[in-house]
Amino acid sequence: MKVIISGDHAGMTLRNEVKSVLEELGYEYEDVGADCTASVDYPDYGIGPAERVANGEFDRGILVCGTGIGISISANKVKGIRCALVHDVFSAKATREHNDSNMLAMGERVIGPGLANEIVKTWLTTEFEGGRHLNRVNKITAYEEQCEA
Ligand code: RB5
Repeated sequence: MKVIISGDHAGMTLRNEVKSVLEELGYEYEDVGADCTASVDYPDYGIGPAERVANGEFDRGILVCGTGIGISISANKVKGIRCALVHDVFSAKATREHNDSNMLAMGERVIGPGLANEIVKTWLTTEFEGGRHLNRVNKITAYEEQCEA
């Protein structure tokens, strides 16, 4: 599984934790996030990576900003992206099982590295359940197709 990670200046420290999890689990990844603490704009770090997940270059994406909110909103504007803003392990599991989320967003100002570590591990290793959940995800996809037509 290839994972793209990104984030703004407010997510740099938590992004390092994400990288250490990916290395520990042996995932291939590319980090395209901000590389200094100078203030930047989160859409510039959320939309591009989301496009690279949507076009199949990466299987999954993980985004970090101060709250996780701005960057998840940005990623979810890209067709085909289901970016889940998650700050607990239950939701990390549920969003994979029920929503087949292909991107995960977290906020460095919201949770610490220990919880983020557990969230990332859970999110990366939980499978989509399909079935009735697939019907629901398909309705989101159908809406995206309809908007494009
Ligand atoms: C940056 O100060 C902050 O607004 C950003 O990281 C994020 O929290 C926005 O939703």
